[in-house]
Amino acid sequence: MKPRILVSRAVFPEVIQRLAGHFEVDDNQADVILGVAGLKERLADKAGVLTAATDPVTAEVIAAAPKLKAVCNFAVGYNNIDLAACTGAGVMATNTPGVLDDTTADLAWALLMASARRLPAAERWLRNGEWKGWEFVQWLGADVHHATLGILGMGRIGQAVARRALGFDMKVIYHNRTRLPADQEAACRACFVDKETMLRESDFLVLLLPYSPATHHTIGAAELALMKPTAHLINVARGGIVDDEALIAALRQGRLCGAGLDVFEGEPKLNADFLEIDNVILTPHIGSSSRATRMAMAMRAADNLIAALAGQRPPNLLNPEALPG
Ligand code: DGY
Repeated sequence: MKPRILVSRAVFPEVIQRLAGHFEVDDNQADVILGVAGLKERLADKAGVLTAATDPVTAEVIAAAPKLKAVCNFAVGYNNIDLAACTGAGVMATNTPGVLDDTTADLAWALLMASARRLPAAERWLRNGEWKGWEFVQWLGADVHHATLGILGMGRIGQAVARRALGFDMKVIYHNRTRLPADQEAACRACFVDKETMLRESDFLVLLLPYSPATHHTIGAAELALMKPTAHLINVARGGIVDDEALIAALRQGRLCGAGLDVFEGEPKLNADFLEIDNVILTPHIGSSSRATRMAMAMRAADNLIAALAGQRPPNLLNPEALPG
């Protein structure tokens, strides 16, 4: 008999088909949000699960799934998974690094450019019929070329963002827990600086940190106060890294020029004050959302699950301690 697995959210039919070659698949193509209660119920008899970053794989969920051997996120971020609980229960956890770097870096750049040149606000104004004629000092924005780009969190996606800056002749500075090896710094012409220098000097600051209790509100009122009033903040990482209240205050009071945000504290709910502010661009957590990349993410998660349930080490194992000794 094939092992039983759950796919917790709607995915491409090709992914379900692939999994069905190996497993008895319980899918959720209706895309009902399962939450803790739904996951507990549907995982009671499952050996594996493909999960999204929206699925709370808590200790309670793990405890309710006695047959579970693998939780395979189709996301690079895995702050939705209680890794310690997985390890404690001998459950392998995996993510999808590498396949979404360029697509996410592209969105960071789309937000950066749009914020610099005020594109959504200018378009809203035009659509509202307010454009009465060309004016010399209309909708002035900021230059991206030759500006200073700061990157907080210089993993694969941060480096992909930095490489794109070469074409704009930007100065690239970054801060990270650990400094990159010299060859990687050279490949993206990036200089390591301390966090305060990065906050003070960046014209555009892109956040690419993973979320954890340690990175909660990494950018709050104190950090925003160090930034230039002409600067733009871009967050394509996770909500909660930025203190949204503090950001709203800074944008409202002109202490920060603009922001491009793909992620929010408590999403999909977001602080309603964001909707009142013209100098912020808001997108619904679509950093990795191109068809090709979402397919690659889901297929990578499927690869991980197939390996894990075949008794092999999955390629993107997060907790090797969970492997049987
Ligand atoms: C990720 O892969 O972490 C993206 O944010 C999608 O959830």
